[in-house]
Amino acid sequence: MLRKALERVLEFPAIYNLNQMIGQPTVRRYVQLVSEEIPVGAEMSVVDIGCGTGASRAVINARYHGIDINPSYIEAARRNHADADFTAMDGTKLIFADDSFDQAMSIATTHHLDDSQLQAMTAEALRVVRPGGAFHIIDAILPMNPRELFKERFFRMDRGRFPRRLDELQRVVSYSGHVARQRVLNGPLHDVAYLRLVPLAAAGAKGAV
Ligand SMILES: C[S@@+](CC[C@H](N)C(=O)[O-])C[C@H]1O[C@@H](n2cnc3c(N)ncnc32)[C@H](O)[C@@H]1O
Repeated sequence: MLRKALERVLEFPAIYNLNQMIGQPTVRRYVQLVSEEIPVGAEMSVVDIGCGTGASRAVINARYHGIDINPSYIEAARRNHADADFTAMDGTKLIFADDSFDQAMSIATTHHLDDSQLQAMTAEALRVVRPGGAFHIIDAILPMNPRELFKERFFRMDRGRFPRRLDELQRVVSYSGHVARQRVLNGPLHDVAYLRLVPLAAAGAKGAV
């Protein structure tokens, strides 16, 4: 009951932004991985799945289209970033045509999705990315060192109900794509993972890893 009330409060964009501020050490790691791992350029197009209020737009130098399932976040994102497109949409059922974007990305969203939703989101992201592109996943994971109990408990209190260890995250997304690269940045509140997914066919893979 208390958890549900807290989740409703966090749905408000202003409270959501405050929550983001508290998590600055983790957000800094997200930004580092975005800037080091996602190829961008003014002529390129990027879809950001689960964009929230559009915070990542500021660090993506490309044509940017953010989508989120929460229409009030999308309204706030439109107010914050007039130079980008935003659409309320379920990331597991994208309305875009195949091969619509050069790159797809998703930050801090996988832990809000159960395994079948995450597999669907990965398949959809890879469907809308053109050949040569990738789906870049960046999210907090349960601590690499299981003795870091504060980090373990802190992440398990998150309103996202599906915190995963690195190997679980990798296993789930591997049903829909091939993990071409991965990195982990350790942090005081969360460890943060980066996974670069490419289509199974492009990787020469024959099925689930
Ligand atoms: C922790 S927030 C991260 C937002 C943003 N990426 C950021 O880093 O600021 C997770 C976001 O995932 C969105 N989300 C959850 N399930 C979704 C779905 N099925 N499709 C699209 N967005 C979803 C939530 O509405 C929320 O905005």
